Amino acid sequence: MNIAILASGNGSNLQALIDAEKAGDLSTGRIVLVLSDKKEAFALKRAARAGIETEVQEKDLFSCRKEYDGELLRKLERRKIDLIVLAGFMRILSIEVVKAYSGKILNVHPALLPAFKGGNAIREAYDYGVKVTGVTVHLVDEEVDTGPILAQEVVRVTQDQGIDGLEEAIHKAEHDLYPKVVRDFIDKKYEVEGRKTRYLK
Ligand code: GRF
Repeated sequence: MNIAILASGNGSNLQALIDAEKAGDLSTGRIVLVLSDKKEAFALKRAARAGIETEVQEKDLFSCRKEYDGELLRKLERRKIDLIVLAGFMRILSIEVVKAYSGKILNVHPALLPAFKGGNAIREAYDYGVKVTGVTVHLVDEEVDTGPILAQEVVRVTQDQGIDGLEEAIHKAEHDLYPKVVRDFIDKKYEVEGRKTRYLK
């Protein structure tokens, strides 16, 4: 099962997935490509350090999303990618990519969807004053942060932790949850019917 991980930033979730694969905890999953839209993404360094092929595909070289995603698809198809794992990829995938990899794109979001969609979820949940927030792993559909939910983990907001403490707790929850869900997804433990997913024990 060839996996491509798409990441724009730090890549701590990528790291958790790399570590899981190394520990034999990613089933038949092999991370064969890490692609970033940002050449300065630390995720690229993590991938290189782990001996994983990297690609940078910056948006400026393309006139529109369709062109960008056409090239993205060619890169994925060239490596015979079976599964796309988004790990902090800050671009919206077009319908062409979503259709080509229908039901085979996973994302992790740092809140309990459908609350706090979008790119600033931890801060928005914190500022809203919620007492619990968390992490969601979901399939990607044509819209942003709306696909069927595979798993969620609750993170409590404590009185004195501040935004930094909350961020740390959320990322820890992501690093625990995401590799497990990716592994179980590869092992076909999730049945998906419309919006509903079921975990087969
Ligand atoms: C994570 O919080 C993830 O939920 C969100 O983007 C962030 C990426 O962090 N989609 P990292 O690059 O994996 O450290």
